[in-house]
Amino acid sequence: MHVVPRLKVLYFGTPVVLVGTRNEDGTANLAPISSAWWLGQYAMLGLGDVARTTANLLREGECVLSLPSPALADAVDRLALTTGRPDVPEKKARQGYRYEPEKFAAAHLTEQPAELVRAPRVAECPIQLECRVVAAHPFGGPGMHATAVQVEVLRTHVEEGLVIPGTHHVDPDGWDPLIMKFCEFYGGGHRLRPSRLAGGWEMPHQRPGGERTTQNRRA
Ligand SMILES: Cc1cc2nc3c(=O)[nH]c(=O)nc-3n(C[C@H](O)[C@H](O)[C@H](O)COP(=O)(O)O)c2cc1C
Repeated sequence: MHVVPRLKVLYFGTPVVLVGTRNEDGTANLAPISSAWWLGQYAMLGLGDVARTTANLLREGECVLSLPSPALADAVDRLALTTGRPDVPEKKARQGYRYEPEKFAAAHLTEQPAELVRAPRVAECPIQLECRVVAAHPFGGPGMHATAVQVEVLRTHVEEGLVIPGTHHVDPDGWDPLIMKFCEFYGGGHRLRPSRLAGGWEMPHQRPGGERTTQNRRA
């Protein structure tokens, strides 16, 4: 039997991507997103218009997409509810966002230079993709102003153990992406830790340990 719950959130589960960009003054910005999909050597990134990352992408025309493993869930959570914008937008402030000029330090992550673009890689991420922006499309509707940014992957950096020897392919058994599902962090199919993002969104499943399971709710 299906019900019609009029879902408020449609984040069914996608890999987390850390978008590294350069600010106007050359300093690094880093933002977690989960609205990313891939086709050929291109990716489409869904970004809110008020994010500093969006402005950086459109101005600089480049970025590095660093893909965290589940081991980096704590680092990603430290970036949650932060923005590189000194003038924190009102809606974000209400959600608990704060200005963070030093995203790498705040996350306890290490900036690593890229080879083809100025944007920073995240040294701890097993997969890093250097990209250039090829197109940007307005996206959204009433109350949601976003941009779908199409990027071309120019160079990939992959931890050696993840590459199938003698090929140009990632071993799907070896690569376990950090997943954001309904604002919670998952790896290997399990919830990993409490999520600040879920708190900001006032999601109804914030208790650590995941005790609020479907089974519990039915009981
Ligand atoms: C796990 C996770 C996933 C997120 N996914 C997205 C997303 O897909 N698109 C988006 O615009 N913001 C997303 N956010 C929120 C951004 O990180 C947030 O807007 C942040 O302020 C951007 O930083 P910036 O303003 O310095 O660019 C996500 C945050 C977290 C923690």
